[in-house]
Amino acid sequence: MNGKTTGNRRLLRVLDGERLWPPPVWMMRQAGRYLPEYRATRAKAGSFLDLCYAPKLATEVTLQPIRRFGFDAAILFSDILVLPHALGQKVWFVEGEGPRLEPVDLSRLVLEPDRLLPRLEPVIETVSRIRAELSEETALLGFCGAPWTLITYMIAGRGTPDQMPARRAVLADPAGIDRLVDILVGASIDYLTAQLRAGADAVQIFDTWAGALDDTGFRRLVIEPTKRIVAGVRERVPGARMIGFPKGAGGHLPAYVRETGVDAVGIDWQASLDFVRDAVQPLTAVQGNLDPLHLVVGGEALDASVDKILDRLGDGRLIFNLGHGITPDGSIDNVSRMVARVRTAGRR
Ligand code: CP3
Repeated sequence: MNGKTTGNRRLLRVLDGERLWPPPVWMMRQAGRYLPEYRATRAKAGSFLDLCYAPKLATEVTLQPIRRFGFDAAILFSDILVLPHALGQKVWFVEGEGPRLEPVDLSRLVLEPDRLLPRLEPVIETVSRIRAELSEETALLGFCGAPWTLITYMIAGRGTPDQMPARRAVLADPAGIDRLVDILVGASIDYLTAQLRAGADAVQIFDTWAGALDDTGFRRLVIEPTKRIVAGVRERVPGARMIGFPKGAGGHLPAYVRETGVDAVGIDWQASLDFVRDAVQPLTAVQGNLDPLHLVVGGEALDASVDKILDRLGDGRLIFNLGHGITPDGSIDNVSRMVARVRTAGRR
């Protein structure tokens, strides 16, 4: 199977070029700690990484938000850091804090790309299981982290407020960074291809820290590697549908879309809606961009922001989503309210 079965999956119709009203809707981090059923399954699994590598449990948490909210897409439950983990880097998660990695040493880079797919087999099995259990109308998204965002964690060994260790390495050891990018581009092509062949309808490339780089860095470490991944995957899976999410890209968005060839681009909540409508949406479908904080606070401010996104971006190709993942303090009632408001929005 490749990424080209559309069926009546509305999200895929938008990726393939249609404008639909109301727009399809899903939510980044839709499987997560704001859901009691996620917390229950997570407790059964042991560690977070154990959950990512347990096909039955990972399938279960992927489907939980679909059952509750009826989103138009399910997203594979896993993490971007399983890829460095499968390349042989030590990765673990500290409860309540976040990821930890044994930092890579660029001068003695030891990674094992040949071991990647055997080690990620449980994640690929999860993709097939989800597709088998998902209804015909629901699209299944696979994903990976973009090379630059992976590098920020691989070099610092943890999340950092300003990605400084990786930014320093970019300037201090460009050849070392280029070697690491090459490994990650190749590994990402293998990994996304395997997800598409196992039944993912489309894949999203998360570049959470794209906004930390200057103009030169953005081209070299965000646009170029993403372009290579998109081309490499489509060489193996012709017509593969791909979504890019270069968070914080701002004025780089049109160049990112033109040069990478993605079928849709994720928009963070800081972006100017007029700019996105005028300069990005004519080039590709856009996905976003509600501030996840609205799902914490709710009320009329939530309604007004949903309406504003629908108003500004509703005349073009839109996939309704958040501008980043829902946080653990997001409320289930507010998610239901958001979905209902999108689905009952007046015709245009
Ligand atoms: O529902 C989904 O969106 C699918 C699953 C998914 C997770 N992480 C599960 C997760 C996806 C697509 C990701 C992507 C991811 N992981 C990104 C890119 C998108 C983004 O949010 O910026 C990044 C940077 C990571 C790395 C990562 N994983 C961090 C920094 C953390 C700690 C912060 C946090 O929210 O706890 C994680 C842990 C993580 N990944 C959790 C979940 C549900 C929470 C861990 C837990 O349940 O204990």
